[in-house]
Amino acid sequence: MKTIVTKSYDEMSKTSADFFESEIRNNPEIVIGLATGSTPVGTYKELVRRHMEKGLDFSRVKSFNLDEYLGLSGDNPNSYRHFMNEQLFNHINIDKNNTHVPEGLTEDPKAYGEKYDQMITESGGIRIQLLGIGSNGHIAFNEPDDELPLGTGLVELSEQTIEDNARFFQSIDQVPTQAISMGMGSIMKAEKIIILASGEGKAEVISKLLNSGKVTSRIPATFLLLHPDVTLICDEEAYSGVSR
Ligand code: GLP
Repeated sequence: MKTIVTKSYDEMSKTSADFFESEIRNNPEIVIGLATGSTPVGTYKELVRRHMEKGLDFSRVKSFNLDEYLGLSGDNPNSYRHFMNEQLFNHINIDKNNTHVPEGLTEDPKAYGEKYDQMITESGGIRIQLLGIGSNGHIAFNEPDDELPLGTGLVELSEQTIEDNARFFQSIDQVPTQAISMGMGSIMKAEKIIILASGEGKAEVISKLLNSGKVTSRIPATFLLLHPDVTLICDEEAYSGVSR
């Protein structure tokens, strides 16, 4: 895992946008993997700016998002589809038909998950995948457990994640307890992975990730240590626990 430590959240976001810009310019028909959460918001802002000011062209780009809350429709303001439209898709020239976010209203998550993985494979696979990290080490919604799912499908959210994500909802009772998430295998198939972390709240998990020297399903992000092309971009605060 390569690590880039930046002075600020803004610099982290620009560095992350640099990776995406260069990949998109290199291959305008690229398939990209996208993430939600607070951390990638700055990356999306920067990509929107580069689209508007530098003509970064998304017209032939395809995207797949990591996850969606089960039970939320795409027009629910708390859905990840809504988030992606608001933060990125509505402000760039991507064809919405080429953007994929798991369907939160699916009645058969297992079959849907298999179909989602198949769509990714049929599109040629993800060239560059953006990830955040949960404070408990989850990636997408693959929560710490004895076992981790390989493929996309139904997952249960941990109490920690429900608490962490309650800030986006009116009350904690409104946070869905289940989601459709890309599995660890689906994520690890991406050719290149960029993982972002920002702020004190991620310092502990980043230090565990970089100092552990082990892979453990109790910190799902450690599986990224097995991938040949992962770059962690984190600001100084998120990195502050590593040398402590
Ligand atoms: C969410 C998402 C993850 C995200 C993580 C961190 O629950 N499912 O994809 O990486 O939590 O979120 P944040 O960036 O807001 O800290």
